Amino acid sequence: MKDRANGKVILIGAGPGDPDLLTVKALRIIQSADVVVFDRLVSPEIMALVPPGTRRIDVGKMPGFHTVPQEVINELLVDLAGQGLTVARLKGGDPLIFGRGSEEAAELRDAGIEVCYIPGITAAQGVAASTGVPLTHRGLATGVRYVTGHRARDASLDLDWVSLASEQTTLVVYMGAANIAEISTELMRHGLPETLPVMAVASATTPRETRLVSTLDCIAADVALADLPAPVLFVIGHVVSLYRGREADLSTALIVEPLRMHIHA
Ligand SMILES: C[S@@+](CC[C@H](N)C(=O)[O-])C[C@H]1O[C@@H](n2cnc3c(N)ncnc32)[C@H](O)[C@@H]1O
Repeated sequence: MKDRANGKVILIGAGPGDPDLLTVKALRIIQSADVVVFDRLVSPEIMALVPPGTRRIDVGKMPGFHTVPQEVINELLVDLAGQGLTVARLKGGDPLIFGRGSEEAAELRDAGIEVCYIPGITAAQGVAASTGVPLTHRGLATGVRYVTGHRARDASLDLDWVSLASEQTTLVVYMGAANIAEISTELMRHGLPETLPVMAVASATTPRETRLVSTLDCIAADVALADLPAPVLFVIGHVVSLYRGREADLSTALIVEPLRMHIHA
């Protein structure tokens, strides 16, 4: 019988997919926890590291829900930790970058549950390493911004287009696949050149990795044609001109060559 007072939740960044990109600490906790609660984005390769006897709960798909509401996940975590269990809460990438980790932590703390974080490699870093495209580069980008390309139903994208349309800053768009047409149009309308290079990478760092290199004026059409499988990350900016295709690839990732070779034509 577990002691209720010992229950805790550890919010763990599982990284972009490659299990070798897990931190040593994350692996240790995954292998010692009583229960692993995981999201859709956690790769099968990482779930294969969970010991066979450990209980697993997939909150990407729970019976009765198309998308599991955050409140239901919060209640589940409070309930499990309340039973005295050590809960490994696995999230894709880093839990504090578009991961709702801080929302879960706040709910747990309000319920008197001990909670802590283990960082993970965020998708942007995974994409940079696997494609060889840096996020900053002297002479090409003095900074980088991570933005969400997701919008709540019926709402317009709440982004500061004026400040985002900067050629000196690499723009990394998470959750942007459905809205890439609007994003690219707005960026051009606010001054970015049509020829600015853009890279879309699906399932980065996994054996399913797929890359597409295009330009701001063509990215929406190219992505629609390629029908990239989720999750997809966009890197927009001059750094993408450093993409060297297969030569840059040090992994076993599958590469779909760019549909339009604007950059290396
Ligand atoms: C809800 S956000 C979670 C981000 C995550 N917490 C992180 O730090 O990477 C989901 C988005 O992350 C991006 N993403 C996560 N993993 C990815 C991967 N392996 N390849 C490409 N994009 C990824 C996609 O843009 C996806 O729509």
